[in-house]
Amino acid sequence: MAIRNIREYGDEVLVKKCKEVKEMTPRTRELIEDMLDTMYEANGVGLAAPQVGVLKRIVVIDVSEEREEPIILINPRIVESSGEQSGQEGCLSVPGKCGIVTRPNYVKAVALDVDMNPIEVEGTELLARAICHELDHLDGHIYVEKVEGELMDVVMEEEE
Ligand code: NI
Repeated sequence: MAIRNIREYGDEVLVKKCKEVKEMTPRTRELIEDMLDTMYEANGVGLAAPQVGVLKRIVVIDVSEEREEPIILINPRIVESSGEQSGQEGCLSVPGKCGIVTRPNYVKAVALDVDMNPIEVEGTELLARAICHELDHLDGHIYVEKVEGELMDVVMEEEE
């Protein structure tokens, strides 16, 4: 278990496109464990590998209140989306800030799990938002590009 340093907005690793994971290795498993630890430690609902400086297509998400239902997505791809939601979004790489972003209200993603088996994940509301937000990171996009209006200062701890 290790907490990794979260890269912040302005770091060029955050604007690069990540590479597909071709095979699971002990090193990649360790990365995923560390990403989970880092996300939970920072109270985030999601974290993408480039946020800890690794340009691989891996994200972890946990939108559960109990913080014990991690979703691990390797080489994820959104295959279906519908509806629309507008709401506040934040990012562990942009500490202390948040902004209003419009996202689909439903998405379905396909990905691989830690054993490189295909999985499908469906989500609405916060989970749909988290999937979109984290997958954007894998292509070098940060939510601030999509914010409607101004970035605001966070009053409560509510970051993705
Ligand atoms: Ni983020």
